[in-house]
Amino acid sequence: MASEKRQKAIDLSHHLSYVSRARTTSPLKGLSKYMGRPGLISLAGGMPSETYFPFETVSADVLVPDSFTLKETGQESGISWFWKLFARSNKPKTAPVSIPKFPEAPGDVNLAVALQYGTATGIPQLQKFIKDFVDKVYQPAYSDYSILVQTGNTDGWSRVMQTIMNPGEGFLTEEWTYPSAVSASKPFGMHPVPVAMDKDGMSSIDLRKVLSEWDETVRGCRRPHVMYTVPVGQNPCGSTMGATRKKEIYDVCVEYDVIIVEDDPYFFLQQGDYVPKTDRGSESASHLNDEDWLSSLDPSYLKFDYEGRVIRLDTFSKYIAPGSRLGWHTCNPLFAERLERQGETSAQAPCGFGQSLVTQLLMTWKYDGYIRWLHGLAVQYKARRDFFIDCLADEFHFEPSSSEISFWKGCQVFDAYPKQSGKRLFMSEKGLGTKLFSFVPPSSGMFIWIQIHFENHPTYRSRHADEPDERLEMQLWTKIAEAGVLVSPGWFFAADTENPPTDEVEGHFRISFSNSDFESLKKAVHVFSKCTKDFFKA
Ligand SMILES: Cc1ncc(COP(=O)(O)O)c(C=O)c1O
Repeated sequence: MASEKRQKAIDLSHHLSYVSRARTTSPLKGLSKYMGRPGLISLAGGMPSETYFPFETVSADVLVPDSFTLKETGQESGISWFWKLFARSNKPKTAPVSIPKFPEAPGDVNLAVALQYGTATGIPQLQKFIKDFVDKVYQPAYSDYSILVQTGNTDGWSRVMQTIMNPGEGFLTEEWTYPSAVSASKPFGMHPVPVAMDKDGMSSIDLRKVLSEWDETVRGCRRPHVMYTVPVGQNPCGSTMGATRKKEIYDVCVEYDVIIVEDDPYFFLQQGDYVPKTDRGSESASHLNDEDWLSSLDPSYLKFDYEGRVIRLDTFSKYIAPGSRLGWHTCNPLFAERLERQGETSAQAPCGFGQSLVTQLLMTWKYDGYIRWLHGLAVQYKARRDFFIDCLADEFHFEPSSSEISFWKGCQVFDAYPKQSGKRLFMSEKGLGTKLFSFVPPSSGMFIWIQIHFENHPTYRSRHADEPDERLEMQLWTKIAEAGVLVSPGWFFAADTENPPTDEVEGHFRISFSNSDFESLKKAVHVFSKCTKDFFKA
């Protein structure tokens, strides 16, 4: 983007926490501006000599960017499915990459530098790749944004929290949210403030209501000035927030001076609507080229951020490997500088092995290759999502319905009933049997969020709802786990676990379709189906 047309970030320094304001440059890190000067003899730091690093070279065989076909082959199973992921042959095609300790070309990734004590900003080649990527893909609406590496979004959020929040403060978040984000806040005396959701994720109407009606005396703390949100592949609900809603929320945040922390690990796993198997061809090629696919994705909050009030968290966990422990913040330069001060007194910098290998991979693939890789992954996860829902459709009878539950309002909801063969459960008015669960097919990410209709369970009326051991959600969860399938119980994901948003409904499960092979997914759905049907007969 042409930076001249964009304004600079506004002054948001009043959001900094007391802890963050108190941070000074680590005295030794202050020397770093001299590092790299030609001819400099450094006798200052406690750095081991690079000649004592036992690694002369780090080498790897990496998959080529188009390893994963853009053909949607989701209806196959087992090993044949696995190998067909690789478009051209039965063996994955790889290319060697190598990072020498002392490379000849000055611009190459230098293992001696990557493994040495370094700056919290990361190795220069990685910074350059990320900056270029952010500019091209997310297109921030202000000019002087900074990027700063971190060790994944868990670390990213933890650092942000301590940089812009003080103990006792609340932060706005979706009513169902990522539990680790809440757990990270609690020891600091911070707490989530739930905002209602609908099919697009966080509701801008409820957000305005929460902020405009904030009563410090009733709530016991000042009005929140920070929002934590997972807008794409919403964890756990699987919704995707489009441009219109993001713009609405951004505008409310400008009005109430709220900083938006956009935790977005699933941005490139946008999958569109689920189309039932009967309406799909058996194998369809993604009709979009990489560039068109990229522009078809719903944009990041950065695209609307003309003031610099978004702190975006990106991670390589879902696209390269969680063990790389590598990601980055994109934010205004003031926040980036404070986050850097924090980074240099904790991890100092992400691990040099991870940084150098990921950087070498990205420099080998280049920008276009990485986009092709991401496109391939998006197609694979869509195929997984479709396959998983197809398996559910094989086990249950689906009836389309609409829902009164806030976060599904306006969505096409699928109600699941037992298939009518064998012994019938008690009949509903429609003659369909017991409504067992409902869900909305996720439009991005890795999870299906299902609501179990425990109100139809034979013991529902007679039991004590407020005794945790009695919760039907945990009883069914245990039954499924004992049968060999682990899903996540819904209560984990309530922003406010004391008062989960379950007025009428008892429980949910979050089921991940991201990891197991197709054969195991099918088996898991069968186990889930059997346990659930049995449970409702109890
Ligand atoms: C919303 C969300 N944020 C963060 C993470 C963790 O990311 P990282 O591996 O980068 O720490 C996850 C992973 O499951 C997630 O779902």
